[in-house]
Amino acid sequence: MRSVLLGAPGSGKGTQAGIISERLGIAHVASGDLFREAASRGDEVGRQAKSYMEKGLLVPDEITIRMILERVAAPDCARGFILDGFPRTLEQAKALDMALGKRGEAIDRVFYIEVATEELVRRLSGRFICRSCQKPYHPVYSPPEVTGRCDHCGGELYQRPDDLPETVKKRIEVYFAETAPLIDHYKEAGKLVEINGQGEIGEIVERLVAALPQD
Ligand code: AP5
Repeated sequence: MRSVLLGAPGSGKGTQAGIISERLGIAHVASGDLFREAASRGDEVGRQAKSYMEKGLLVPDEITIRMILERVAAPDCARGFILDGFPRTLEQAKALDMALGKRGEAIDRVFYIEVATEELVRRLSGRFICRSCQKPYHPVYSPPEVTGRCDHCGGELYQRPDDLPETVKKRIEVYFAETAPLIDHYKEAGKLVEINGQGEIGEIVERLVAALPQD
């Protein structure tokens, strides 16, 4: 299965993609995680991406498309993948379709996770992520077993610099201006499934699982 999780910052894409990819045994490809890893290594892509991420802006298509197309061509994506945070512009969506098409493949489903804006802000203002595996936590909604430590790998939890209130506001604006048009794009292609993203994390997992292709 090749699918995309579409939704605003804080809608739960990373949380859901982590759970579903593990259940299905397929790769979880998160553009934001890849940029943060590149930035912490200090390589060229990371240095370029960091300046955009800090401002809550999208990293230019050219850099983003190259990075993701290389990633989905890796052997662990051969059985399928869940894309989290990509595509985010029409240009990115077209580049993805073209690259998969050349291999006789296509995106099967696009899950649009809908969450009210005030809930996005509540979630992001309390989010902590693991410095090592990037798993997200929230002190109220999804607390770790040991304060400050990741349940999955024991890594240190920290607050993302782009989760500060002004940057969150900018990221949400950018989402509505540049990414929300993809909803219509995938609706027209007959691939969009709308998922109510409010409620307990486990309830949303079940809504997504119920909407997966059955074969
Ligand atoms: P990225 O890392 O992709 O950030 P984002 O899309 O803004 O999404 P988030 O990670 O903020 O939220 P999420 O939807 O994954 O929610 P989560 O599961 O963590 O991108 C960061 C930056 O990188 C961008 O701003 C841009 O600069 C750049 N970038 C990335 N991709 C790009 C692209 N394609 N093109 C150009 N630039 C790109 O959940 C949030 C919180 O809520 C957590 O604390 C979680 O525990 C909690 N939570 C989750 N589900 C629930 C629930 N049901 N109820 C209550 N709490 C919940």
